[in-house]
Amino acid sequence: MSSADDLAIEVLRHLNLAVKGINLYPAGHPSITNSISEAHKEISFILNARDRLIIGLVEDVLVLDETPLYTLTGSVQELVSRMKRLDIGTVTISRGVTEREIGGGLLKLLHSDVADIERQGGFAPYMNGLGVTHITVLEPKTEEDKTGADAAKKVYRKAIEVLKEAMEEVRLGKIPSSTGAKAVINEMVDQVLENRSAILGLSMVKSYDEYTFHHCVNVSILAIALAEAMGMPNDVLNDLGVGAILHDIGKIETYEGIIKKPGPLTEDEWKEVRKHPAKGAEILRKMEGISELSIRVVIEHHLKYNRQGYPKIEGAGSQSEPSMCVNIADCYDAITTLRPYHIPFTPGKALEYMQTLSGKDFEPHLLERFIEVLGIYPPGTLVRLNTNEIAIVTAPNPKEPVRPRVRLIFDRLGKKVEGVQEFLLTETDENTLYCGSSRSRSQEK
Ligand SMILES: [Fe+2]
Ligand SMILES: [Fe+2]
Repeated sequence: MSSADDLAIEVLRHLNLAVKGINLYPAGHPSITNSISEAHKEISFILNARDRLIIGLVEDVLVLDETPLYTLTGSVQELVSRMKRLDIGTVTISRGVTEREIGGGLLKLLHSDVADIERQGGFAPYMNGLGVTHITVLEPKTEEDKTGADAAKKVYRKAIEVLKEAMEEVRLGKIPSSTGAKAVINEMVDQVLENRSAILGLSMVKSYDEYTFHHCVNVSILAIALAEAMGMPNDVLNDLGVGAILHDIGKIETYEGIIKKPGPLTEDEWKEVRKHPAKGAEILRKMEGISELSIRVVIEHHLKYNRQGYPKIEGAGSQSEPSMCVNIADCYDAITTLRPYHIPFTPGKALEYMQTLSGKDFEPHLLERFIEVLGIYPPGTLVRLNTNEIAIVTAPNPKEPVRPRVRLIFDRLGKKVEGVQEFLLTETDENTLYCGSSRSRSQEK
């Protein structure tokens, strides 16, 4: 890498420090202003020799002009995560940029939230409103955004970022803002209404290392889809979704060693774990603009239909329907995910197991509906096609539940399939589907 590239990397480091500083110090603190000033000096120096500097984010990797910075991306995490959360594809800084445009423009943008930017009509009007003329911010350039699947992925990614940020705020002893969570849940509700299969398909995304984030986002998708199928109105779906995405936020105050313990918990450890719904509700109560329904979802998500769960709520009535939806979604996602303390159930086995708890842990009608929503072959189910290929179900197909969308994993000779080959199963002969079934590819988008 040339010395000009090294200097550009210094720019990223200083921008990262400035972004981080805003989380830690009051505005105008020297740690922030010094970093901005350093970044500005370095940028101006670089722009003596060229017209612009482009900072991009492609598939979670920072790209400086055309060069991907695989190793650096992790060490400027704050900057990367802000860009991801706001869905920024590129930031172009042009010659003549001022220190004020960096501090009062770019930094301000990176610390605003999606709802704020959308209210102003997008990045360009937002930056114009701040008097910034030498910095252009654009969304990622993708043709993919047009398909339903990619719109769903975008919402999923945004939800993970919003949640990470809320949890980080709690960890730092701050009260998270509700704006980000409400905005992203709003988009998620839209996806469930317009693009249900794609967003449901994403609920099979699991992460061993980032379990909590994926778990909470998956639970919100599954719970919203169930509540929608039960005919609950939009405002309920939104409030339920906010409760669902934040349902385990109280676990931040539970010792990590307990949460990740690879074995049975002692009675004392259980006592700690059982506190998380109440702790979570306490956090939500302090957040501005959170509805009673969302708080109730958090406090009741382990209560169970027969009220034999926790916490024991003196004199309370039955578990509310939105809480029941979250309870079902929570259990399903938890038992289908690999954790240090258990091997996951396959989706089908998980639903079978949950049926044994119908009328006890779960309200029977809601559970039935949940099974219908996921389809006969829920996302994540491994299937063998009559061609002997092995595939994984990626999304249900409500029109034809026995022909879901699948992604090939192994070909007919047992060789791993390279690249992504995904398609809807369509009937080509009367014997139909899996384990002795027929398929053909309907190359729908
Ligand atoms: Fe929980
Ligand atoms: Fe949970």
